[in-house]
Amino acid sequence: MFRFHPCLIMAAALALSACSEAQKPETEQENKAPEGGPLEGYVTVDRLPMPSAPHLVEGRTVWAGTCQACHGLGEAGSPKITDKGAWAPRIAQGMDTLHEHALKGFIGPEGTMMPERGGNLDLSDKQIFAAVDYMVANSR
Ligand code: HEC
Repeated sequence: MFRFHPCLIMAAALALSACSEAQKPETEQENKAPEGGPLEGYVTVDRLPMPSAPHLVEGRTVWAGTCQACHGLGEAGSPKITDKGAWAPRIAQGMDTLHEHALKGFIGPEGTMMPERGGNLDLSDKQIFAAVDYMVANSR
């Protein structure tokens, strides 16, 4: 008679538990600020924790509408949101510089361009600052 070796059964049980571990509902991850490296793929606001400060909630909306198109993917040489390595030297310039570069536009040493107000000239200074602050809060 064919019988499974106990080790095989153990291995199968382990594999199963490993699987269910990997398939944990994403809600647990969604409620945490990303740790470690940048999030994979296109990062949309729904993959990031909801901020509590009203200023950052506004920033989240502005960011989703205008900035996500480039900064969600690191498109066109832009620093990707959650990419702490790409953001650290930029954050080191100080928030005033980041705000000003977002308002007026900025061409980096590689010749890649951050367009004035992210290309959306209808946005107020306050909205731009909020979007920068939201992006930085998720990238440090
Ligand atoms: C068309 C693509 C595009 C859009 C849309 C865009 N950005 Fe950028 N952004 C870039 C690129 C490219 C860079 C990097 C420029 C460089 O350093 O070479 C950048 C850099 C930045 C920086 C860093 C500047 C620095 O001094 O290092 C900030 C802050 C920023 N963007 C904010 C925003 C905000 C806020 C929005 C939305 C309102 C936005 N961006 C929309 C392409 C974009």
